[in-house]
Amino acid sequence: MAEALRRKLVELDLLDRGKKVVRDGDFVVFPIAVEDFSAVKQLCEEFKCEVVKVEFPEVRPPSLTLHDVLSEKLPPHLLASLPRAYDVIGDIAIIELPEELLPYKELVGEALMKVNSHVKAVFAKAGKVNGAYRVRKLLHLAGENRTVTRHKEYGCIFSVDVASTYFSPRLSWEHKRIASLVKPGETVVDMFAGVGPFAIMIAREVDATVYAIDLNPEAIKHLKINLQLNKLRGKVIPILGDTKEVIFKELKGIADRVIMNLPHSSHLFLDAACAALKEKGGIIHFYTVARDPNHLEQAENLFSSSIPAGRRHIKRILHRRVVKAVAPREWLVVMDAEVT
Ligand SMILES: C[S@@+](CC[C@H](N)C(=O)[O-])C[C@H]1O[C@@H](n2cnc3c(N)ncnc32)[C@H](O)[C@@H]1O
Repeated sequence: MAEALRRKLVELDLLDRGKKVVRDGDFVVFPIAVEDFSAVKQLCEEFKCEVVKVEFPEVRPPSLTLHDVLSEKLPPHLLASLPRAYDVIGDIAIIELPEELLPYKELVGEALMKVNSHVKAVFAKAGKVNGAYRVRKLLHLAGENRTVTRHKEYGCIFSVDVASTYFSPRLSWEHKRIASLVKPGETVVDMFAGVGPFAIMIAREVDATVYAIDLNPEAIKHLKINLQLNKLRGKVIPILGDTKEVIFKELKGIADRVIMNLPHSSHLFLDAACAALKEKGGIIHFYTVARDPNHLEQAENLFSSSIPAGRRHIKRILHRRVVKAVAPREWLVVMDAEVT
């Protein structure tokens, strides 16, 4: 429906042409140029869409690409292998370099810094994200050989070590989405907090209390730095340890909301998530990986079959969506569920 809606917005002169249209998982988000949303709200009914508040990137003149910079320097058959996308975390870029480009790694790294003048260090992925800490090996390509940086996301600043802690800039919208759902006074348990993007964004937006648990001492170290770097309305309590142990020992029955961002195994922790919720229940944000076809149904089945039977009951699924691709035909899916 996105293209039909775009035409309609252009026709009604509602589209802000100075801002970029944003693609977010299964959604397209259009920048609107008016203060009065009545016309937009009518369109929402017609197109079954909703008005959300987000920051849009400005439209910029076309910039140089890796391909442009390397077109004279790489053998022509290798130009086609150049990745189009890469992650930028703070001033560090991380690229997936195909094996055939490895002999040219410095060249590609230098070119990437030319294309992005604020990038000061370039690394290639040298393995999959793995282990309990969900980190990957990196290969230094160019620039400073440094893995600690500061990343900005919706007004928050995060200190991150890209070598020893998990961080994905592709989750920024998701961090923001969850933060916008939390109400003042809530108690939240972030079971797999990492350097704290959910916890800090929540506490920055509302006066809530967030217990932020992680097994990785480096993640907790950076989370504590991040508490200092951001002005918070709410409170974040960092806890180093295994989330199950921590919850069953100290945090039973306290949470209005639980965040479970350990996609490959969060279903194994649903007993602890349910125990953390208040007696009357609350909301669980459940992240999992699912494959085509029927990935959303797959995620929902895994969630409902892993909820401890007899003790907790899924009242309703409030929301489910694809957050990002993790591999060909494999998706990170989130489900927000009300559990009683
Ligand atoms: C996918 S990362 C998510 C980090 C963060 N929520 C974010 O959005 O960037 C998962 C995190 O869970 C932590 N973790 C893995 N197993 C754990 C456990 N049993 N208890 C506590 N934390 C754990 C890892 O160290 C890692 O930081």
